[in-house]
Amino acid sequence: MGFQYDDDVPVAIRSEVPAPKARTNRLLPWAVGGAIAVVAIGTWAIVQRPTTNPDTAVTPAETETAPSEALLGHRPYADAPAEVLTPLASNPDIRLRSPAAKAFDNLQAAAAREGIRLLPLSGFRSKQDQQALFFDVKAERNQSVTERASVSAPPGYSEHHTGYAIDIGDADQPATHLETTFEQTAAFRWLQANAKRFSFELSFPRNNSQQVSYEPWHWRFVGDVESLRLFYGDRGTPAAQ
Ligand code: DAL
Ligand code: ZN
Repeated sequence: MGFQYDDDVPVAIRSEVPAPKARTNRLLPWAVGGAIAVVAIGTWAIVQRPTTNPDTAVTPAETETAPSEALLGHRPYADAPAEVLTPLASNPDIRLRSPAAKAFDNLQAAAAREGIRLLPLSGFRSKQDQQALFFDVKAERNQSVTERASVSAPPGYSEHHTGYAIDIGDADQPATHLETTFEQTAAFRWLQANAKRFSFELSFPRNNSQQVSYEPWHWRFVGDVESLRLFYGDRGTPAAQ
C-alpha cells in the first residue's frame, strides 16, 4: 500500500521527499537524547519515591476493615458533631444530642417532683476520651482486654460517642455510682418504671445480646429516627429488657 501511495505522488514532488536513510540519520541524535532522558527520569523517580516506615504503615488489612463490625461485643459509633450537642440543665459540663438533652431534663424534673434526685454522671464522650478510659484504666487495673471490654467499650465503639447515652446515678446514694448496686436505689426503681415515657431505655440489661456486663446506670435515648437507626438499624431484634 505504501508503495502504491509513493507511486501516486507526482515525480516533481516525489523528489522532495527525503530518502529513508537520510531521515534516519537526522532522527538518530533525538532518539539517543530521548533514551537518555527516559533513563534519567526513571532513576530520579526511583530515588525520590517515598520509603515505607514499617511502624506507621497501614496494611491493606487495616484499610479494608473499616469499623462496621462489633469489637469485643461493642458496636462501632462515630463521634457526634459538637453542634448537635446541648448541655444538660443540671450540669452544663455534660452534653447530649439536643432531643436527648431535652428529654433527660424533663425526666430529671419529673423524678424530682416525686422526691427522686437523678444525677447525670457522663454523657457525650469522644473517641479520644474513650481512649484513656479504655487503655489507661485497663493498665491501671491490670485488666486483660476481655476484662476491660466487659465494662468499657474500646475507643470508637461506645454508645457515649453518639451523644444519646447517659450514665445516671442517685444523688442520695453516691456509693452506688457506676456500680451494679445502683439497681437497689430508689433512682433505679423510678427509672425502670418511668424512663420509657421519656424515650430512654437500658442499653445493657442482664444477659444482653452483646454480652456486655450488666450496667443499670447506662441509659440511651431512642426517641428519634436517628437514634433508632444507630441502635437498631440492621441489627436485628432489640436487646432483652
Ligand atoms: N460502659 C459502656 C459499655 C461504654 O464504655 O460505652
Ligand atoms: Zn455509660
